[in-house]
Amino acid sequence: MGAQKIQKICIVGAGNMGHQIACSAALAGFEVKCTDVNEEVLQKAEQFVTTYLPERVAKGKLQQAQADAARKNLTFTRDLAEAAGDADLVIEAVIEKLEIKRTLFAELDRICPPHTILTTNSSYIVSSKIADVTKRPEKVCNLHFFNPALVMKLVEVVKGPHTSEETAQALMDICVSMGKTPVLLKQEIYGFLVNRMLTAIKNESIYLLDMGIAGHEEIDTAVTLALGHPMGPFRLMDLTGIDLTYIVGLERYQETGDPIYRPSPTIAEKFVKKEWGRKTGKGFYEYPQK
Ligand SMILES: NC(=O)c1ccc[n+]([C@@H]2O[C@H](COP(=O)([O-])OP(=O)(O)OC[C@H]3O[C@@H](n4cnc5c(N)ncnc54)[C@H](O)[C@@H]3O)[C@@H](O)[C@H]2O)c1
Repeated sequence: MGAQKIQKICIVGAGNMGHQIACSAALAGFEVKCTDVNEEVLQKAEQFVTTYLPERVAKGKLQQAQADAARKNLTFTRDLAEAAGDADLVIEAVIEKLEIKRTLFAELDRICPPHTILTTNSSYIVSSKIADVTKRPEKVCNLHFFNPALVMKLVEVVKGPHTSEETAQALMDICVSMGKTPVLLKQEIYGFLVNRMLTAIKNESIYLLDMGIAGHEEIDTAVTLALGHPMGPFRLMDLTGIDLTYIVGLERYQETGDPIYRPSPTIAEKFVKKEWGRKTGKGFYEYPQK
């Protein structure tokens, strides 16, 4: 299916990433259905959209008619079949667990029409680990947005050995239609482009912290002011979720045995204490809940 024929998009997972991808797609004029297994998360996502759009209008960033259209384009449902049954494109943004994604893709393959492209927003799981549960591997691909998805322009389109040229091109085109800037990775590689670079910086930062060389604030300040990053690695981990840093690191360590991926004691402690960053109100920094 070409990008011009993609009109209906289903987002599975309305968490950190999913609700903002859904909102971006609705603002770009797509008919979007967003689903999640957790009713509370779904309600929170809907509440976000209901306040975000008028706020943008009030700030003069969006016209009232655009906000109204986006709101009309976006529906929320717990029913996966209802959300994905007529989708042209599915963007999966559920928790970073391979088995959960594999089960979900098998189900999506049963639910969706044959033309539907199935993508995963996973930061680390390449689509070749998932595509084999479907009967349409040529229509399975990584489509990796960045956090916060409403703001960040870049999307990595990662072509697996099973992904057809047509699918990869349709996804590149769809990103442009969504006002994003896509980059194509012609081959799968763990961590894609950006997270490979970020992991190197993050690991070094945690090493410096654990060695007592400097505190997290000092390291963040150094990275922001000298390297020109908009935020330092500790603030970024708070934003993306320390639970994600822990789970991804542990899984990669178990898979490869390479100690470079083993979560440091600092990260493990924060994970156990549920100090996961913004989402729990405390990570390396504190976030008073509104
Ligand atoms: N957090 C980030 O900064 C970031 C950035 C880019 C990509 N990603 C990727 O996006 C994905 C989601 O990450 P997140 O941070 O939004 O996670 P999150 O925990 O905030 O949200 C995941 C949501 O998935 C839901 N869910 C779990 N199983 C489900 C199922 N079977 N069907 C429907 N919903 C289900 C959960 O209820 C939860 O609301 C992950 O694969 C992650 O690697 C995350």
